[in-house]
Amino acid sequence: MTIVTGVTARVPAKLNLQLAVGPPRGDGYHDLVTVFHAVSLFDEVTVEPAGQDTVTVTGEGAGTVPRDGDNLALRAVAALRKRARGGNRTAGVRVTIAKRIPVAAGLAGGSADAAAALVACNELWTVGLTPQRLAELAAAIGSDVAFALLGGTAVGRGRGERLTPALAPATQYHWVLAFAEGQLSTPQVYAALDRLRASQEAAPPADQQPGLDAGLMSALRSGDAALLGQALSNDLQPAALSLYPALRKTLAAGLELGALGALVAGSGPTCVFLAASAERALELAVSLSGAGVCRSVARVTGPVPGAAVVPAQG
Ligand code: C5P
Repeated sequence: MTIVTGVTARVPAKLNLQLAVGPPRGDGYHDLVTVFHAVSLFDEVTVEPAGQDTVTVTGEGAGTVPRDGDNLALRAVAALRKRARGGNRTAGVRVTIAKRIPVAAGLAGGSADAAAALVACNELWTVGLTPQRLAELAAAIGSDVAFALLGGTAVGRGRGERLTPALAPATQYHWVLAFAEGQLSTPQVYAALDRLRASQEAAPPADQQPGLDAGLMSALRSGDAALLGQALSNDLQPAALSLYPALRKTLAAGLELGALGALVAGSGPTCVFLAASAERALELAVSLSGAGVCRSVARVTGPVPGAAVVPAQG
């Protein structure tokens, strides 16, 4: 008999190829239409049986991840335990998060860790929840958690948790991520957007729903990176730029260096650039890091699958 001591799940970061934000709702959220795209920057989350729930974080930005009840991975563990009602079997877990996705960077790293914790505990405790049931739990933990489970490219509606996979050819896109110094708080960026819209009298009417960009979807269907580059859009970008003006220089530098498109990732402050090929991405990454317009760079590809258990060695 094999004794399972721990389970590790790997989970990708997300980009938003379109992020259209509607007016604020009564519950503090905004209705949105977004095109999520999972990319090859992965966190790994390991869960092992323990006396009580604890979390240890290593890697990128480890010092800034909450270790208490605010930790999304711990919240995911608690949510699955409640659902599983497994007695001793679902007693405490030691959660170890190996981070490569920067914290509060617009790449849904915390949501990714929650999705990985769900998948890993589902396996560790042999709960056997279906992807559909896991997605329902995910939506209650955070707006981006369900997509971190699904991966690929998908349209998100509602808070972002109502997902429809995008039908698109198996094109692989090459992206360069420019990581910024510091972080941006997602609620603060949404609040800045509401203020900007109010001051410009550009607030959408309360009953106006954001719409999916047909041009972007057609670019995805054609697999044409140049078209996709032109179609990238993010309603949160002006708000992120108002809070972090130096990002303008980063975006401009990437476009000058030949990127097919550039935008702020989600609520920022990471900047995202689309390159025409793996070679162009390498050139762009080298030039951007030499230009002194960001803290560091990473080359990634997408789409990639969502959170999945890493097969045990041996
Ligand atoms: O769902 P999540 O915890 O990731 O959201 C963080 C914050 O971002 C929310 O508390 C809210 O202020 C803002 N948000 C929003 N509308 C969304 C998603 C997030 O206003 N659709």
